[in-house]
Amino acid sequence: MNLLLLGSGGREHALAWKLSESPLLNRLYIAPGNAGTAAVGTNVPIGATDFDALKTFSLDHGIDMIVVGPEAPLVEGVYDFFHGDEETRHIRVIGPSKEGAMLEGSKDFAKNFMVRHQIPTARFLTVSSETIEEGYAFIDSLPSPYVLKADGLAAGKGVLIVDDADNAKRQLGEMLDGQFGEASRRVVIEEFLSGVECSVFVLTDGKSYKILPVAKDYKRIGEGDSGLNTGGMGAVSPVPFADADFMEKVRTRIVEPTVNGLREEGIPYKGFIFLGLIKVGEDPKVIEYNARMGDPETQAVIPLVQSDLLDLMVGVATETLGERSLVIDSRHAVAVVMASGGYPGSYETGKPIDGLGEVSESLVFHAGTKEVDGGVVTSGGRVLAVTSLGATMGEALEASYRNIEKIRFEKRYFRRDIGKDIKEAYGTY
Ligand code: AMP
Ligand code: GLY
Repeated sequence: MNLLLLGSGGREHALAWKLSESPLLNRLYIAPGNAGTAAVGTNVPIGATDFDALKTFSLDHGIDMIVVGPEAPLVEGVYDFFHGDEETRHIRVIGPSKEGAMLEGSKDFAKNFMVRHQIPTARFLTVSSETIEEGYAFIDSLPSPYVLKADGLAAGKGVLIVDDADNAKRQLGEMLDGQFGEASRRVVIEEFLSGVECSVFVLTDGKSYKILPVAKDYKRIGEGDSGLNTGGMGAVSPVPFADADFMEKVRTRIVEPTVNGLREEGIPYKGFIFLGLIKVGEDPKVIEYNARMGDPETQAVIPLVQSDLLDLMVGVATETLGERSLVIDSRHAVAVVMASGGYPGSYETGKPIDGLGEVSESLVFHAGTKEVDGGVVTSGGRVLAVTSLGATMGEALEASYRNIEKIRFEKRYFRRDIGKDIKEAYGTY
């Protein structure tokens, strides 16, 4: 099979690396890719949302399947574009339809979907400028703190947690006035939930599903979960608090009603569903849906998948996923992100990266890198993820931190406390 993978981050390098091992694969192209994906396939200089150029490329290169990494092409309708066009209908797209991607693209859509299918989530009210008074009354009815979410995509910045009711009302006004552009013309006000969070990834063909290993993401830039939110500074998988009892609740209360709900509503969904969950007491609740895999969770989770990922994707495309098995490595995986100093604020790029060849016993997934004159230089905020597997999470962490020391670039930054909260709470894990 000839595959075209869309995206250019660490998630896409991990997917490309795994797909490149499949005996079913003939050619692997990545649009646009990075210096890491270039080592396992062929990068193509086309943006992931340039559908016309992707179509021309796909027809010229006999592409059989498109695997979508990031949310933007999904929310913009890449599935519908290829499946709705006679010339490209035969090309299978792994990812939801535009309507399915609204689970990520509109928080209001996602919340109402959960209400329709009795999927546990925080109480909420969606407001616009016309209904701001109702928003004020809802804030007054809730205990502090208050959660305000821009309805649309806001580059991961659209969620505010505010302690004081008056501030929450003021913030609500600013959001509705366009603080996050069009994305916050509608705002979802939510009850605050307290608990530990984890990321659960589901692969579905619209009928059956497979649940991948659970991950925990470290979102803040600073150690001890301080400072600004980032895309994610590290991930570990599995996580101890997502035990068998909890996962059975996740499966019956969340995964099944989600997959069945999409099918009952006639929403085509053949791809990954990312459940951002919070464990409240012993019960899972949905904080958010995403229509894709997480980054950097993918860099920890995908190396634990022993089955042929491309074969599973063929199962997704042909609605025969239920006939396939998902075999998972029993070890622990961690991914530690190396970033450019200054990220998630401003940072410099073009810094030469040394020592990649010295890495042993870890996998290095590239995110913000590019090749210049035969060398690799930084080209983004998150630069690399160093992934290791180990008999325990502690062993995997030791390997990643040992190898990080070998990789050098000016003003590199990484968190030294990935997994520390779990070690403190659970000891050797
Ligand atoms: P989201 O973009 O929806 O994942 O929200 C970003 C982060 O805000 C989440 O990872 C949570 O840490 C936090 N968050 C979102 N919704 C809630 C909620 N209802 N209660 C508590 N924390 C929340
Ligand atoms: N790491 C969280 C995300 O990919 O959205």
